Amino acid sequence: MISKSDNPLESLDDWEDDLLRRYPDPDREPGNGKERDSFRVYGDEAPEHVREFYRQNHEYQTVEFNLKARERFLSRNQRRMGIWEAMEFLNTLVDESDPDTNLSQIEHLLQTSEAIREDGHPRWFVLTGLVHDLGKILCLFGEPQWAVTGDTFVVGCKHPDSIVYHEFFEKNPDSNDPRFNSSDGMYETGCGLDNVYLSWGHDEYMYQVCKDFLPDAGLAMIRYHSFYPWHTDGSYQYLMNDHDHEMLQWVKLFNPYDLYSKSDDPPCVSELRPYYEDLIAEFFPSKIDW
Ligand SMILES: [Fe+2]
Ligand SMILES: [Fe+2]
Repeated sequence: MISKSDNPLESLDDWEDDLLRRYPDPDREPGNGKERDSFRVYGDEAPEHVREFYRQNHEYQTVEFNLKARERFLSRNQRRMGIWEAMEFLNTLVDESDPDTNLSQIEHLLQTSEAIREDGHPRWFVLTGLVHDLGKILCLFGEPQWAVTGDTFVVGCKHPDSIVYHEFFEKNPDSNDPRFNSSDGMYETGCGLDNVYLSWGHDEYMYQVCKDFLPDAGLAMIRYHSFYPWHTDGSYQYLMNDHDHEMLQWVKLFNPYDLYSKSDDPPCVSELRPYYEDLIAEFFPSKIDW
């Protein structure tokens, strides 16, 4: 049973709002007429409940936890459902904050995919936008927030200083474990990101669900979209191989659609549904294992 103290965020979006504090939209700087007044204004520090979330995430995301989560969820015996059904299931995740101030999960997915579609990108890319956060259904399978969302990082090697609230790693047992606290840790330089364990969360889980159905670039967007220490802050270069360098460009192309496509007018779900049902059917079987 997950208690309130395991879930300090009132809404999973609190972490995403904090991303906007850390990485503000360059097109929406105050004074250019495009700024949004509905987003909360943060100072230099995240609010206490968001800091508590980072504290838990950094303390509990260990190699041992990662291996257990993989064992539990990668057998994929939670549910069998189609993509649209999973979107509706995710939408049952009721955030505790005022629902008027947050988009529903389906709305965020559709705003992301619609922004990609408007820019004329290929169909697989639009679909990637649609499904990228579906792994958040881990919350509905009983995972605490710190094991679902937040910036991801590599477990099993040194935590680079670029990770937000790096000081909270002091309490992570891996930080004092000589197997895991050198720069290579349990890996080898140049081994490729496919061969490292990223902290457990909605990205890795959804990558695993999609890996037989989308092209490599879409899979990288899903798997690494919360990997801010890598795609935005440039850490972990020494673990990368040539394929990762190629994928990094795609992940960077995806990131603004995720971060900056939120707008106050929610998309019309029923109008968009037929287009997306067709798109889903082009790539995914009607039911998949979750
Ligand atoms: Fe996400
Ligand atoms: Fe997202």
